[in-house]
Amino acid sequence: MLASVAAHAAPRGRVLLDTGWRFHRGEAPGPDPQLDYDVRPEPGDHSDGQDADTRPTEARRVDAGDRRVLKPWILPSGNALIADPARRHVRPDGDPGGDHPFVQAGFDDRGWQAVTLPHDWAIAGPFIEDGPHGGMGRLPSWGVGWYRRTLEVDAADLGRRHYLDVDGAMAYAAVWLNGRLVGGWPYGYNGWRLDLSPYLVEGRNQLAIRLDNPPDSARWYPGGGLYRNVWLTRTAPVHVGHWGTVVTTPEVSAERAVVALEVAVDNTGDTAADIEVRTALHALGDDGRPEATAAARIDPTRLRIAPGASATARGRVAVARPRLWGPPPTQAPHRYVAITTLHRDGETIDRVETAFGIRDLRFAPDGLHVNGERIVVRGLNNHHDLGALGAAFNRRAAQRQLEILRDMGANAIRMAHNPPDPQLLELTDRMGLLVVDEIFDSWARKKTPLDFHLVFPDWHEPDLRAMLRRDRNHPSIVMWGVGNEVGEQYTGEDGAAIARRLRAIVAEQDPTRPAAASMNWAKPDAPFAAVFDVIHLNYQGEGIRQSPEFDGTDRIRTPPQYPAFRAAFPDRPIFSSETASALSSRGVYLFPVSPAASGPVREGRGGDAARRQVSAYELHAADFGSSADHVFAQLDRHPYVAGEFVWTGFDYLGEPTPYYDARSSYSGIVDLAGFPKDRYWLYRSRWRPELPTVHVLPHWTWPGREGQVTPVHVFTSGDEAELFVDGVSQGRKRKGAFEYRLRWDDVVYRPGELRVQAYKAGRPWAETRVRTAGAAAALDAVPDRGRIAADGRDLAFVAVQVRDAAGEPVPEAADRIRFRVEGAAELVATDNGDPTDMTPFPSAERRAFSGKALAIVRALPGQHGAIVVHADADGLQPARVVVRAEAL
Ligand code: GAL
Repeated sequence: MLASVAAHAAPRGRVLLDTGWRFHRGEAPGPDPQLDYDVRPEPGDHSDGQDADTRPTEARRVDAGDRRVLKPWILPSGNALIADPARRHVRPDGDPGGDHPFVQAGFDDRGWQAVTLPHDWAIAGPFIEDGPHGGMGRLPSWGVGWYRRTLEVDAADLGRRHYLDVDGAMAYAAVWLNGRLVGGWPYGYNGWRLDLSPYLVEGRNQLAIRLDNPPDSARWYPGGGLYRNVWLTRTAPVHVGHWGTVVTTPEVSAERAVVALEVAVDNTGDTAADIEVRTALHALGDDGRPEATAAARIDPTRLRIAPGASATARGRVAVARPRLWGPPPTQAPHRYVAITTLHRDGETIDRVETAFGIRDLRFAPDGLHVNGERIVVRGLNNHHDLGALGAAFNRRAAQRQLEILRDMGANAIRMAHNPPDPQLLELTDRMGLLVVDEIFDSWARKKTPLDFHLVFPDWHEPDLRAMLRRDRNHPSIVMWGVGNEVGEQYTGEDGAAIARRLRAIVAEQDPTRPAAASMNWAKPDAPFAAVFDVIHLNYQGEGIRQSPEFDGTDRIRTPPQYPAFRAAFPDRPIFSSETASALSSRGVYLFPVSPAASGPVREGRGGDAARRQVSAYELHAADFGSSADHVFAQLDRHPYVAGEFVWTGFDYLGEPTPYYDARSSYSGIVDLAGFPKDRYWLYRSRWRPELPTVHVLPHWTWPGREGQVTPVHVFTSGDEAELFVDGVSQGRKRKGAFEYRLRWDDVVYRPGELRVQAYKAGRPWAETRVRTAGAAAALDAVPDRGRIAADGRDLAFVAVQVRDAAGEPVPEAADRIRFRVEGAAELVATDNGDPTDMTPFPSAERRAFSGKALAIVRALPGQHGAIVVHADADGLQPARVVVRAEAL
C-alpha cells in the first residue's frame, strides 16, 4: 500500500505511520545474511526461572572475528546523544545488507502479513507450555522479524528534512531506506530518531526494518516488533531540534511563577540562518486543548545559526496566579502548553508544542514535597505489557489500568524497569500521578545472558539521555530511576563509579530532579549507596527473609534497613521503590490459613503446586518480600519513610513466581485481566481512609467444607467490625496497633450468609455481605464504558460474571464462555486473569476463572453505531451488552 505524504502548508508535518506495513517473521531463505548487530555469547544453560534477587554476574565478551556485524553502522545513530565529541562514532564506508532481498524496492512482499502498528508479534501465541521460557511469559517473542512499507515524497518536499521517529521497537532495530542502511537502535524501550533525508528520492521510497529480539534477554515478557508508534516528521532545514525544548519552573507560588524555556534550533541547511524564536504559554483545558488567550509570552529571541550548527534560545516569563500541577486529591493536575514558533524572513518555518506543568518539587529528609505539601507516595510498580494486548501500546488500555489503580488510592507509578510509551506519560500528567521514570534493569553486569548489559558500554549514554530528553518536560515525573537491583551494588568502588557516571549524566541533562537506583542488597556503608541523593530500597527497608526458616540460606537475608539508612544519610529521603511482592490468585482460597501476618509461599502454606495457584487470603509473598500487612507496619513504624511502590499494581506477563510453568505473575493487586484481587480493598482501605470500604473474604460457597474451620478476614477503612454468620454475631473486633485486617479464624463453614458491619470512631461506617451461591445459571456482562471512539484504536472492556438463578456471583465457576461481536467493532482478545491459562489471547472462547472472564473489543475506524457483544456458555442464560461507537 502506498502512503502519500502530501506537502502541507504547515511548517512541520508529523505523519503517523500506522498502516500500510507488511510483516514477516524470520530471515529470507538462503545463506546467512550476516545482518546481526553484533555476535552474542552463547546463553549456556541459563534458566529464566531463577530468583529475581539472584546476584548478577560478570559479562562474557565475545569477539566478532571475521563475521560481518552491523554495529559500526548502527552506533552513529546515537551520536546526537553523546556529549563528548571524541566519543562519537564515525560511520564506516559501505552499505551492509544493501543486497538483501528484503530491503529491495522490487521485492514482492504481498505474501507477507499486512499489519497495523502498534504490533506485538508474539502476543497471539501460541503459549510454549513445556520447558523453559516461563520467565519470559511462554510467548514466542524472540527471533528476527522484518517490516516493510513505502513512503511517497513529492518533489516539493525533497528540500525538507525527513526523520523517522520510532517510539519503541523490540529490539536491535536496523533500518534501510531504498536499499541503504540508515542506522538503528538496539534498546527496545527507548524512542529514537533517524535522519532519512540523505537516502530519500522523489516518489516512492522503500523502507525496511529488521528487528532481532534475543532469547534470554529479559526477566519478563518483552514483546516483539514495532510495538509503539512510528512517525515520519518533516521539517524545514532550520527547525527545533529533536526533543529540543526544555521547560522548567524555577519559581513557583500561588501568586506568581517563573517559566523558563530553552529551545535548541538546528540548521541543517547550507547557509547561515537568521531566525526569531517566539513562544506563547497557554493553559490547557480539561479537554487537553489550549485556551484561546495566552497566559504569557516569552520575549522573542533572535539567533544567527551557522550552516550545520545548532543554537539555543533561552527565555523566561512570569505567569500571574498560575494554575499549579499537583497530585489529587489535595491538588489538581493543571497543565500548560508552550507554543514555540520559528520565523525566518517573515515566514513561520517551524512550530512545536511542549506540554508542561507549573509545580514546585522539593525533596526533604521526610520525602517529596509538591507545591509545599508533603506527599506520601502511595505507589505501584507496573511493567509495560497490557495483559492480553501484550506490549503493543494502547492508550485506552493503559488509561484503564491507571484509573483502576487511582480509584484504589494510588498517587504514583514506577515505570519498572524501562521508559514507557510516551502516551502513558501524557496520561500520568493529565491524571496527576507521580512517576519514577526508569531506564535500566542491568548495567555492565548481567541478570540474563543476553540482556542490556551486552550494549551497556556503548549505549548507556545515548539511552539515558534519550529518556531524559524525551521525558523531562512531563510534570508527572518526579525522579529518574537509573538502575534496578543492578550487579554493580556488589562491586564496591567499580560499581559506584558507574553509578556516579549515570548520576552525572542525569544532573547535566536535568538538574531539576534527582536520580536514584534501587537497592536490594547494598547497605548504607556500600560505596554504591552513597552515590544518589534519594535512597531507593527494594524490600530491605522492611527486612528480607527474616523468618527462622531462612536460617543458613545463601540468598539475601537482611534485617530491616530503614533505621540504618536513616542514620547513615539523615538528610536524604528514603523511598521503598519495591515493597511486598505479595502473591495471590484472584478468588482462590487455600486451607489451612496461616496464623502469621506474612510468610513465603510454600506447598500447603499459601501455595498449591498442582493447581499452580496462590491463596487470596493475601498473607504470602515471594521469599524476599512480605505481605501488605507487614509492609504497612514497617512503614508506620518508620514514619520518615517517604512512601512505597508496591510490586506490582497489575499482574504482568512472565516472571510467574512461584510457579515457573505458568504464563504470568501473581504479584499484582489487580490480575492480568484487570479484575481486582482481595488485596485491592486492603490498599484502598489504607490509601483512601475517607471512603467507607469494607470487604470480606473468602467467598462463602464451599460444598464439601461443611463443618470445617474456614477463616473469615475483613479489610476495612473503619477501625472495628462485627461479623455475623447467618445473623449470629461472631464478635466485634478492633484493629490493634500495626494491624491492618480483622480476622475471625475459627469460623466453621456451613452454607448461608456472612455479613460484616464496619464501624469508624464507634459509628456505623460500611456494611457488606456474601451468600452461598447455587448452581451457575446465567452470564452477566458489563462494559467499562457505554460509548467509545470509532477511531480504530479505542477499546471496550466487557467483564462477564457467572451468576446463579438468584443473581449471586458463582465464585468458582469455570464455564467455557464464547464471545461474539456484531456491529462496528472486532474482538481483539479475551482473558480471565488465571496465570495458568494457556489459551491464546485472541481466542473467542475463554473459560471463566473464579467466576469471571473478560472480552476486549476494538472499534473499527470510522464505523459508527451499535457494538453488540454476546457471551454464551452451555446451559447458562447468555448475556448481551451494547456499546456505541461514536465520533468522540
Ligand atoms: C524484584 C525485582 C523486580 C521483580 C520482583 C519480583 O527483585 O526488582 O523486577 O523481579 O523482584 O518479585
